[in-house]
Amino acid sequence: MNKQTVRDISIKDKKVIMRVDFNVPLDKKTNAISDDTRITAALPTIEYILKNNPKKLILMTHLGRPDGQVKEELRLNPIAQRLQDLLKTPVKKLNECVGEEVKKAINDSKEKVILLENLRFHAQEEENDPVFAKELASLADVYVNDAFGTAHRAHASTEGVAHILPAVAGFLLDKEIEYLGKALEKPEKPFAVILGGAKVSDKIGVIEHLLKKADVLVIGGGMAYTFLKAQGINIGRSKLEADKINLAKQTLDEAKKKKVVVALPIDHLIVDSIDTPTRIEITKDQNIPEGMIAVDIGPKSIELFKNTLKKAKTICWNGPLGIFENDQFAKGTKEIAEFIAKLKAKTIIGGGDTASAIAKFGLGKKMTHISTGGGASLEFMEGKALPGIAALKDK
Ligand code: 3PG
Repeated sequence: MNKQTVRDISIKDKKVIMRVDFNVPLDKKTNAISDDTRITAALPTIEYILKNNPKKLILMTHLGRPDGQVKEELRLNPIAQRLQDLLKTPVKKLNECVGEEVKKAINDSKEKVILLENLRFHAQEEENDPVFAKELASLADVYVNDAFGTAHRAHASTEGVAHILPAVAGFLLDKEIEYLGKALEKPEKPFAVILGGAKVSDKIGVIEHLLKKADVLVIGGGMAYTFLKAQGINIGRSKLEADKINLAKQTLDEAKKKKVVVALPIDHLIVDSIDTPTRIEITKDQNIPEGMIAVDIGPKSIELFKNTLKKAKTICWNGPLGIFENDQFAKGTKEIAEFIAKLKAKTIIGGGDTASAIAKFGLGKKMTHISTGGGASLEFMEGKALPGIAALKDK
């Protein structure tokens, strides 16, 4: 998985088209950008390209899921503004992404940096339409992909263009390949995997792939209760995927065969209602009383998880251990995050909710790598080839 990067090609006087993932969250009421991590994450590549005197740097991204329609609220104007503020360089935002007018606007613009309009206003983007890919490719001489968050999608801008122009990775994509790809391929041992989040079904591919390599598997969050149920433990009204009980059983048997140490919660923070709790208690053991719902791991589980993780040299974490968005139910996720942040281990955090949890606790700088991808990081952790990476030039 050694891919060429922007450092391996000549940029001077070239028109560079770069796929970024500026699919940032927007405030529902004001439409303002509520988290610009994905924009700041692409800045090192943008700045490197600009330092190397390209003729133009043309950026393209999708925003949301407009399904091939122009949706005013999904135009990229606020993103262009934020990028301009962060870069301290003028950014020319166009209202289209393909066509003669776009070509002319690029050639005529006095600005070096151009941002094309939301690619998904055209259905051909997600269809990976070859004509659309050709039109995008015709805007430039070389292609850079720095959109890790969208690398699991075989779309015109992530895959199609890469087959037409010389195609290399940006620094963000390269970093994700380094940590989620290479470091997990041959992890320094002991290798611990922490899995949480709501559903077993979301993580089963990751479990299957990483069980082959892991020494320790720590399971928390909503998905833990299906595993506990599989062991005959009472889980009250906690999250259960009844159709995954057998799968959970098989996974535990498989882990035993492979001599992987599995840690499941041994006590829980439980409530009578998630939204309006009148009772918040800690169980005395693994069982959850009738009618109660587990929302976080309990103090004994926190200690057990810390003990299980303390010797790890590589830790990969995907999925929070409780409903951390609510401060009352965040203790388990927070304490484990703080604990692993202090270890000497390589700490690799899968994106999405886990990345938001780490950001909420202010531990972003303390981890080795926090992925910018949600679905993409999950698929990468499942050992799948991502089309947006596969299409790039090998070293
Ligand atoms: C993401 O946010 O995971 C990526 O930007 C991909 O978006 P999508 O799931 O709409 O393809």
